[in-house]
Amino acid sequence: MNLQPGLPCGTQSEVTPRSSLSHRLDRHHLKPALSDGFLALDSTHGDLDDLFATHQEQIIAQDFRLAARLLNHYRERLFLHMRQEEAHLLPLYSHRRGRRERSGTPAAEIYYAEHRKLRELIDRVSHDFTFLLRPQPSRLQIVAMIERESQFKRVLEHHGERERSELYVELNRLTAAAERDALVALCLSEWRDGGA
Ligand SMILES: [Fe+2]
Ligand SMILES: [Fe+2]
Repeated sequence: MNLQPGLPCGTQSEVTPRSSLSHRLDRHHLKPALSDGFLALDSTHGDLDDLFATHQEQIIAQDFRLAARLLNHYRERLFLHMRQEEAHLLPLYSHRRGRRERSGTPAAEIYYAEHRKLRELIDRVSHDFTFLLRPQPSRLQIVAMIERESQFKRVLEHHGERERSELYVELNRLTAAAERDALVALCLSEWRDGGA
């Protein structure tokens, strides 16, 4: 099963062995199962993490052109994932869950805000990565790039943890089995097809 649809030309062979679903299943013994309800969508977080790790491996290998192509592909996949959540999950969560008890703000707002932050951070990472495409970037520039990416990863990890512990769990509670299965199957299908 190809979970890297539209992978940049020339990168398929380098990426597939590390980032394929089977690789991840071997590593984590996880399988997206409809019986997990919305928690099955955590497998897409794992796919994204694997792709980003492959990109960072190419930084260490100092193949910056391949690293840049992988970063661009990662960004497209991340944006697809967030579009899916914003189209299929957050409006439903907002409608069923309503407002937070203490603050009174819409329950889904924190997820939209974190998505805005993640888009901003990954766009900045992508922009700054062009410095590494110049002839002979310095070690300091490489370290600065990895630190910038670490900042993005911290925000992403925090966001993913919130979704695992709250959004997906609450959506499981707030939906009927048939509705839940249909939505999860739709999201996983779009993910496999690359949102085409
Ligand atoms: Fe999200
Ligand atoms: Fe997510």
